[in-house]
Parts: sequence; structure tokens; C-alpha cells
Amino acid sequence: MPPVTALYPGSFDPPTLGHLDLIERGSRIFPQLIVAVLRNADKNALFTSAERMDMLRGEILHLPQVSVVEFDGLLVDFAERMGARALLRGIRAISDYEYEFQMAWMNRRMAPGLETVFMMPGEDFAYLSSRLVKEVAAGGRPVTGMVSPAIETRLRRKLGLE
Ligand code: PNS
Repeated sequence: MPPVTALYPGSFDPPTLGHLDLIERGSRIFPQLIVAVLRNADKNALFTSAERMDMLRGEILHLPQVSVVEFDGLLVDFAERMGARALLRGIRAISDYEYEFQMAWMNRRMAPGLETVFMMPGEDFAYLSSRLVKEVAAGGRPVTGMVSPAIETRLRRKLGLE
């Protein structure tokens, strides 16, 4: 069996400690882990994909087997181009299952050889999401313990809070 390269796709707007926890966990299992940042995540994305990649790269310096790239179009096509045989996704609460299973089944229909692997983040991050982090930060409250200090600073700056 050749070593498996995995893709960890997402919007990462911004990356939370939950995302970073998943990257750490994934990097202990896969010899090569590629964090794939969706370029046009959402018309209302707060950060550009270049900024999101930059923030992620700043957090993975201690993980040489992890790289960060951006992608556009269908994830299965990008996975094929990268030679990835696994997709890593984090599952938090039960409410994630519906959406995640829909995506995993659809991706499997399109690319039967590409396996979706679900991992649970640490329990501190079970209810954490980029969307809520943005709302809390925009409301002027600290998001310490939800994103890294460097990302909290960038978030506050982006929101015009400092
Ligand atoms: O962090 P997110 O927003 O939950 O990540 C969603 C993502 C990027 C994994 C998903 O939207 C995606 O794969 N988009 C690329 C387009 C695609 O392949 N769509 C079909 C999915 S079945």
C-alpha cells in the first residue's frame, strides 16, 4: 500500500482552534496532509482566500507534512489532481451529520476511490464554528480559546476593532 495523501478541505473563514486540532490529528495519521482552502468560499467571506491561507500557514509551521493550497471547482477533481486518496472532515455535533453525509455520498458517487474520513475534534471545540466566532468578535467580545492569538488579532483588525 502506498502512503495515503489526504486533503482537508474547507472555507476556513477564519481557521478556528477546532480546525487546527483536526489538522494536528490528521497529521498523526496521514504522512501527507494538504489543507485545501476553497477560493470563493462565500460571497460574504470575511477574509480573502490568500488571507485564509496565510493564517493557516502561520499555524502549521511545526508540521512539515502539512501544506496549504487553494482550490476552486469540484473537490473530487482537485483531489485527483493532487493524488489524494482520502478527504478528512471534522464531525462535531449530530447536526453536522446530515450535511457531511450528503457531501460524502455525493463525492463517493463522483469519485468511488476517494474515501471520506471523519474525525472528532477535541471536546473543547465541539460547538465551535467560524461563523459564530465571527459573530462574537464582531460583537466586540473576545474569542480567546476559540482561535489562536495571531488569528484573533487579525480578526479584530479586519473588523475594524483595533
Ligand atoms: O468549511 P466548509 O464550508 O464546511 O467546507 C465545505 C467544502 C469546501 C468542503 C465544500 O463546500 C466543497 O467541497 N466545495 C467545493 C465544491 C464541491 O466539490 N461541491 C460538491 C460537494 S459534494
